[in-house]
This record gives sequence, C-alpha cells and structure tokens, in this order.
Amino acid sequence: MAVERTLSIIKPDATRRNLTGKIIAKFEDAGLRVVASRRIRLSQAEAEAFYGVHKERPFFKDLVQFMISGPVVVQVLEGEGAIQKNRDVMGATNPANAAAGTIRKEFAESIEANSVHGSDAPETAANEIKFFFRDLDIVG
Ligand code: CMP
Repeated sequence: MAVERTLSIIKPDATRRNLTGKIIAKFEDAGLRVVASRRIRLSQAEAEAFYGVHKERPFFKDLVQFMISGPVVVQVLEGEGAIQKNRDVMGATNPANAAAGTIRKEFAESIEANSVHGSDAPETAANEIKFFFRDLDIVG
C-alpha cells in the first residue's frame, strides 16, 4: 500500500478538555506519523472556507461557530494508507455509531463536537493539507 498524507484537525471540544496527547497517541499507535502540526485559532472566514463543501447543509452555521469556539490542532499525518487508516482510527462521524476503541467513541461529545476531522479522499487530503501548510512545513 502506498505511503499517503492526510489532514487531521483536533477540534475545540478536545483541546478544551486537554485531550490532544491522548488523541495523538491513538494516531501514533495506529502507525501514523505526525509530520506537521500547529495549534491555531480559526477565523470565521477560514472555518467557512475550509468547510465550504458543506455550506448548503443545515448544520453549516453551527459547525462554523463550533470550530471557531476555541483552539484547534491542525496536523499532517503520514503512513501507509494514511487517509483510510486515519478514518478508521477516528470512527464514525456520529459517536453513537462509532466502533469501540475509536477516537470518537472514546472522546466525542456529539455529532458536531466529535473531537477530530480527517480528510476523506486523496484529492481532499491534498487540498486540505495545502489549506494549512506549505511544503516546507512538512517534515517526514
Ligand atoms: P467532519 O468530519 O469535520 O466534517 C463535517 C462536520 O460537520 C462533521 O465532522 C461533524 O462534526 C459536523 N456535523 C454536524 N452535524 C452533522 C450532521 N448532521 N451530519 C454530518 N456532519 C455533521
């Protein structure tokens, strides 16, 4: 399987509860490597642009407000099949449907405050990584 890179965001519900270390340990235990990382506060314009694909969805406004409600940690994760592996480690979007041992099952508060975001496909991963990081910021 090819080595890939994917974008991960540790969301405000998780940074507020001081869970970044526990979440990163889940990525590392699964064989993913953190090759870039920044703790930032998203502006409203940045959150709207990042989640632009969801702008017609009924939850868009609340999602943007939630994502700017506190710091987030944006990261590039690298590894064999990293995009799917990250999604497996995160678990289902709705924590009620997430499998045992996944990040969302263990830590998420709700479908909105679901602790982590991860890219869903190779093209999305490339675009989402570019949204936050220059090539020079990524050290594999
Ligand atoms: P994420 O993987 O970051 O992508 C979009 C986010 O919208 C999703 O995780 C959820 O946190 C949030 N969201 C809120 N409500 C819903 C919903 N009903 N269906 C899907 N995503 C939702």
